[in-house]
Amino acid sequence: MSSEKKPDCGRRNLVFATAAVGGVATVATAVPFLASMAPSERAKAAGAPVEADISKLAPGEMMRVEWRGKPVWIIHRTKEMLEALGKIAEKVSDAGSKRPMQPEYARNEARSIKPEYLVVVGICTHLGCSPTDKFKTGAESGINADWPGGFLCPCHGSLFDLAGRVYKNMPAPDNLEVPPHYYLSDTRILIGEDKKA
Ligand code: FES
Repeated sequence: MSSEKKPDCGRRNLVFATAAVGGVATVATAVPFLASMAPSERAKAAGAPVEADISKLAPGEMMRVEWRGKPVWIIHRTKEMLEALGKIAEKVSDAGSKRPMQPEYARNEARSIKPEYLVVVGICTHLGCSPTDKFKTGAESGINADWPGGFLCPCHGSLFDLAGRVYKNMPAPDNLEVPPHYYLSDTRILIGEDKKA
């Protein structure tokens, strides 16, 4: 994609941040003193962990939650989606997620604690735009006939697979970030904290 067509990612993020701050400000204005804010609201504003209920997330679907003002995606991968990960190891730049900024449980091919669920921060590691899910495979995807499904960052064209691994030779230097998280139960994930923390 040419630089003339570059969307203003910085501005987009500023709008997102402003909206988030605006939400907090509204709460703060509605009550006279900060001390009057409900503890949960204060904790949330400070970046407390958030809980995600995945009980209704069907295979092949994705849900979004917000943590520390960032979008976090949870994808329930099908067997076919998982099988595709092994077939494209040569095409991604850090197939085993060995680079050190990932939690220990993300340093595997599926980049997850449970293979069927991927939890990633939906922010491109290039300039911070939010990629678009492109789960349709093949020519229907509008990307390539051999596209196995994944994510496209429309800002400068970075492609990520269904484990958030960046393809080789893309503007984005790294895989999508896996936030600290753990399972409270089979249907609930706590995002923002490791079990050991
Ligand atoms: S922000 Fe540039 S490719 Fe994603």
